[in-house]
Amino acid sequence: MNKKTLPGFSTRAIHAGNEADPSTGAVAPPIFATSTYAQEELGKTKGYDYSRAGNPTRTRLEENLASLEGGIASRVFASGMAAVGAVCHLMKAGDHIVASNNLYGGVPRLFDQIMANFGLEFTYVDSTDPHNVERAIRRNTRYVYIETPTNPLMGLTDIAAVSEIAHKRGCEVVVDNTFMSPYFQQPIQFGADMVMHSTTKFLNGHSDGLGGVLVCTTKDQAEKLAFVQKAAGAIMSPFECWLVLRGTKTLAVRMKQHDENGRVMADFLSGHPKVEQVFYPGLKSHPQYELACRQMWGFGSMITFETGSLGNAKRLLKRVRLCTMGESLGGVETLISHPATMTHAAIGQKGRKAIGLTDGMVRLSVGIEDVEDLIADLEQALG
Ligand SMILES: Cc1ncc(COP(=O)(O)O)c(C=O)c1O
Repeated sequence: MNKKTLPGFSTRAIHAGNEADPSTGAVAPPIFATSTYAQEELGKTKGYDYSRAGNPTRTRLEENLASLEGGIASRVFASGMAAVGAVCHLMKAGDHIVASNNLYGGVPRLFDQIMANFGLEFTYVDSTDPHNVERAIRRNTRYVYIETPTNPLMGLTDIAAVSEIAHKRGCEVVVDNTFMSPYFQQPIQFGADMVMHSTTKFLNGHSDGLGGVLVCTTKDQAEKLAFVQKAAGAIMSPFECWLVLRGTKTLAVRMKQHDENGRVMADFLSGHPKVEQVFYPGLKSHPQYELACRQMWGFGSMITFETGSLGNAKRLLKRVRLCTMGESLGGVETLISHPATMTHAAIGQKGRKAIGLTDGMVRLSVGIEDVEDLIADLEQALG
């Protein structure tokens, strides 16, 4: 179908992959809790033979997510990290990845402490300047792996510029779109070859399940990743698939509210005397505000701010009452975290210093509560 004739985002979020169950008419997709499938005769199945290889609830979610990101197919995995691992499973010893130097800390941990042992090679660059990506590409580079905006410093990478550079050199671009969700950013429109999400975050949206997805732009990627699902086995369970399918139905309304609350909160923090700096792409003071307006349709609700010291950060985190201190993001409830000791502990102090991540930084995933209540909570905690 021509892109222009596709139904709108919310319509696809609710209907793609969510057709009524043909055998019962059930409007909500059934959870196919089955490991295997009865076969009529040797070699004759109804399209499924074993749930590691395929499951109807999973098929529905894969259709839904492909439609939302504008891909041709998608493959879902047991977690965001399992999806990143699946990208590595497409490679062989001696292949190289150019990665952004500011990623969710678990990604360089996987690359350097596990995948490097199998002969994969990695170079980290500041991808906010696409020339750095260009300089790092080698003859054996297979993928450029970026996250935009980055976790937690909210740096942006120009997806179109990096894709053009990578394609000229024969490599593919994988974009982690977890922070924006397809509602606010669709990397494939800007030339990305694959889109990754930790579905654990905004796609699920309710902090009640783990998962990951790779949205594909070619049949080759889709087939190879289906093989990785079947061969390596880190697939999403039918129940988790159902949770994400349920979550994406309200993605548009949730994202609108996240964005509205995020903007109000960023303004509040920017004007607060105890806050030294606010990292949010929706602020005109953000160095890449212009790029944010070009490749994103909203700014979301991820905000990092500088409290000045570890002591200040600790005090603030202890005093919050409505905001929940915890890892993760993208749920309906506001989560507050300390990147240096939580999400980015894995990259060590040297790694954090290299990207400018300080001990005084606090990250907010602004939820969809009444924003006045969130501000009141932060006001008392900062005070
Ligand atoms: C941007 C980003 N990418 C990937 C991941 C990894 O996802 P998961 O925790 O679902 O394995 C996370 C987790 O926090 C993340 O924030």
